[in-house]
Amino acid sequence: MTSDLFASSATPAPDAEAVAQLRRTLHEHAHRYYVLDDPLISDAEYDRLFQQLQAIEAAHPELVTPDSPTQRVGGRPLDAFASVRHALPMLSIRTETDTEASGAEAFDGRVRRELGLDAAAPAIEYVTEPKFDGLAMSLRYVRGVLVQAATRGDGELGEEVTQNIRTIGQIPLAPTLLAARSSLPPEGALAPWGGPAALGSGASLPQVPEVLEVRGEVYMRRDDFEALNARQREKGLKTFVNPRNAAAGAVRQLDPAIAAQRPLSFFAYGLGEVTPVEQGGPVFETHFELLQTLKAWGFPVSDLVQVAQGAPELIAYYESIARTRDSLGFDIDGVVYKVNSLALQRRMGFVTREPRWAVAHKFPAQEQITTVLGIEVQVGRTGKLTPVAKLAPVFVGGVTVTNATLHNEDEARRKDVRVGDSVVVRRAGDVIPEVVAVLVEKRPPDAPQFTMPQQCPVCGSTALREEGEVDYRCSGGLFCSAQRKQSILHFAQRRAVEVEGLGEKLVDQLVDGHVIRTLPDLYRLGLTALASLARMADKSAQNIVVALEKSKQTTLPRFLFGLGIRHVGEATAKELARHFGSLDAIMDASEEQLLSVADVGPIVAHSLRTFFDQPHNREVVAQLRACGVNWSEGAPAVQAPQPLAGKTLVLTGTLPTLSRDQAKDLIEAAGGKVAGSVSKKTSYLVAGAEAGSKLDKALELGVAVLDEAGLKDLLNGHS
Ligand code: IVH
Repeated sequence: MTSDLFASSATPAPDAEAVAQLRRTLHEHAHRYYVLDDPLISDAEYDRLFQQLQAIEAAHPELVTPDSPTQRVGGRPLDAFASVRHALPMLSIRTETDTEASGAEAFDGRVRRELGLDAAAPAIEYVTEPKFDGLAMSLRYVRGVLVQAATRGDGELGEEVTQNIRTIGQIPLAPTLLAARSSLPPEGALAPWGGPAALGSGASLPQVPEVLEVRGEVYMRRDDFEALNARQREKGLKTFVNPRNAAAGAVRQLDPAIAAQRPLSFFAYGLGEVTPVEQGGPVFETHFELLQTLKAWGFPVSDLVQVAQGAPELIAYYESIARTRDSLGFDIDGVVYKVNSLALQRRMGFVTREPRWAVAHKFPAQEQITTVLGIEVQVGRTGKLTPVAKLAPVFVGGVTVTNATLHNEDEARRKDVRVGDSVVVRRAGDVIPEVVAVLVEKRPPDAPQFTMPQQCPVCGSTALREEGEVDYRCSGGLFCSAQRKQSILHFAQRRAVEVEGLGEKLVDQLVDGHVIRTLPDLYRLGLTALASLARMADKSAQNIVVALEKSKQTTLPRFLFGLGIRHVGEATAKELARHFGSLDAIMDASEEQLLSVADVGPIVAHSLRTFFDQPHNREVVAQLRACGVNWSEGAPAVQAPQPLAGKTLVLTGTLPTLSRDQAKDLIEAAGGKVAGSVSKKTSYLVAGAEAGSKLDKALELGVAVLDEAGLKDLLNGHS
């Protein structure tokens, strides 16, 4: 047993080799956890080993080493960072911003020219890597122990941030050749771990040299960034604009205790000073081999690193990484191409601060700075008022952005965007553009704070924000032309009844010119009325008439969705149509009857009832029908038997044949509810293999427990 070794932490001093062994074990487990994401032991077991080491070190401070895992967090807040001179300068890379092919081809062409290769010579081999969007870091190890971490600074002089970098779990404090990882002792046991000497399969890889500088990027994962910002917001502290700023802030945090709470990650991509080969340093032929060795020494190296032959494979890499960019879990701002052969790299050398053998091929920026020209309040179909920042046009994330929603009053307040502000706008993937930060220091003097209007900006009716709601709404209803326009557009959209060619401009013209007022008016539009509109060609007017005629033949779900009842989306409309079969049945259903439809909860039921209780809404429906809008109706769906109506079930463990989702669907189809935890209100606990605390709780509360077969009996109506 491990614990016996160190049972008494007082005298006599434990054997230094045994302590070193315990440390190695902890390093190994930390590497599996942080870098490989493949832990061998539970967190609790890790904590137990860690505390054991802490206890030994507390009793015997002479045994504490700087590479001990207990030394990651510690140290006092600094007044300033010390300046350090890099043993080898930290270079930057030449950047190609041209999109697609040209950047890669231009680079490959230059490399071939500089190496004096003609067209007939074979393709150059490259290593392709993501360009991580964080900050460059140089980690210096002497005799296998981290002694210094420094930022890039100006490339010659950086800042010493060792205290903060030690808190990054992914960065090894004492790297060793870890190739034979399977030799790790299983949980609980401290089997002999002979260290590097015992490694068979790693024999071909070099040991960690006397002096080793690893260069790479410190960054923050997007999920860690979101969680950090949520915590900051909760504490009323300032949030960070993007993961890179958050990472830079954490690295340059003078108090290491605060830095330790900012979750950072690391990718290694190269070397600085290393013990020369003549003095026993490692021999590498290629950059790729070097990265594989760093990986074997315990450094995180991205799985996205690849070897590529010639320009075509560089282009293919650029394109494939560009496609996956938004789903990576961390920000990148391009890719990096490097000549793989280190001999060729040496032949090519440098121009000033940039190696000739590497280039960064950037992606279009996802963030830009622009100015706020105005803040407009838009009125939606249901009267919702949305503040929208009008921006000086800016090309970001591949499109020109002129608007960014501020969502609602609370969001607008939180961001405190003002007219005249310089703002950071972000557009990533298909996500709608967002103002992520205001550059307050650039704010013009006396820029007024934004306030929501108390009147609808379109019709002047009172705007109200009801208790518990985030949105202001115009109380004007169909008096408000903005709401009427939006409801017409909603009705005419492709997913509703679809009136081809009826777009925003035309609806504006029709409503603002008082040509139509309500939805049914649309179907009373004649060719003459349409053709007399400004900028309307006869042919286009004719097309609209045809489209209107065509739209009359529709389906019940499309029509119902098209009415624009709050909370009734396409899926709910389909369910309602299936359940009731006819529009009249839906219009006359009570809230209770509506509640028996899958997908319909109290809010939706109430919204439907309120809508159809308004005489003018029924009138609109009647007029649309009178104008010829029609669909075929069916009989109401046969109500499936509901043996579990009113029952609440909880699922735990693994059932022999049903997945969680399948069991849940079956229970819900039978009228039952599925809850996440056991309480006195639980009707049944359905327990499968490896049921845990929920089973104990159910037994304690006397809740009936079923297995899968028991559940199936219930579903079939046997109890
Ligand atoms: S190599 C000799 N590889 O980009 C070349 N740099 O100007 C040294 N960066 O701030 C850098 N990902 O931190 C290299 N895969 C990668 C990189 C990378 C991001 C950063 C680096 C530096 C800038 C280069």
